Amino acid sequence: MIIGGSASQKLGALVAKELNEILCPLESRKFPDGERYIRIRGNIDTKAVIIQSTGYPQDQNLMELFFILKTLKNLEVEDIRVVIPYFGYGRQEKRFKSGEAISAQVIAELLEEAGASELYSINLHEDGLCDLFNIPAHNLSAMPLIAEYLGERYNDPIIVAPDKGALGFAHEIAGILNCEYDYMEKTRISPEVVETKPNKLDVKDREVVIIDDIISTGGTIVNASQILRKHGASKIAVSCVHPVLVEDALLKIFATGVDEVVSTDTLQSDVSTISVAPLIARAINNVG
Ligand code: R5P
Repeated sequence: MIIGGSASQKLGALVAKELNEILCPLESRKFPDGERYIRIRGNIDTKAVIIQSTGYPQDQNLMELFFILKTLKNLEVEDIRVVIPYFGYGRQEKRFKSGEAISAQVIAELLEEAGASELYSINLHEDGLCDLFNIPAHNLSAMPLIAEYLGERYNDPIIVAPDKGALGFAHEIAGILNCEYDYMEKTRISPEVVETKPNKLDVKDREVVIIDDIISTGGTIVNASQILRKHGASKIAVSCVHPVLVEDALLKIFATGVDEVVSTDTLQSDVSTISVAPLIARAINNVG
């Protein structure tokens, strides 16, 4: 049985379709005082897959996920695989300052405690997040799907990582498309402000694709795009896995003259064109 949580209804349905299954009906609503009510309305099987991203509103989506998970466990479902396409709190995987909560670790422990047998996610912000789990945890890559999309639309592009952390993504896509890649130097001044230094790439009259795992406020992409424009890029596309897109992030990005923004559907947004459903379906099928 496949259950799509409120945050991943469409993606859940797409995964179910890939696997020739019907999505299990789930009733999830809020009581007038704001508390959550969930009821699994389908037939209970011995195996289940729950698909729920934990982006905004993170705590509500997490609570719903825990309720579904624990309910299945209480109903004696033995094998419960949890797919969290976008793993919220993934950027707080360690204690950066004394006294901070290691939020991702707390979530990992609660998922196991609630009954998860196996965890799947996509392009986790840190690979090390898998090590927080004692159950098998899989970090899938959406880069081949993004590369396929770009390869059909861009002619010999340069793939640019807006910071060193995203270099691996640029490398992976460039490897598939057999094209050039590089990265830019980024310094984060505050959660909202980043400074990006010009790179040495010759992007003049070239089609450039900026690739990152997450677009949140858009600050990273805005800086990168402005610099690439100054260096004469003829076309700039932006792609990411997780379109967190806080407030007017998209508007700020398009205002720099970007031609296209495209992401996967780990989170629902206006630019979630590339579906990760086949990736999830394959992973579930291979292991299960
Ligand atoms: C940072 O390490 C990530 O890979 C992204 O570059 C970052 O989360 C993007 O954030 P923002 O859109 O707020 O600049």
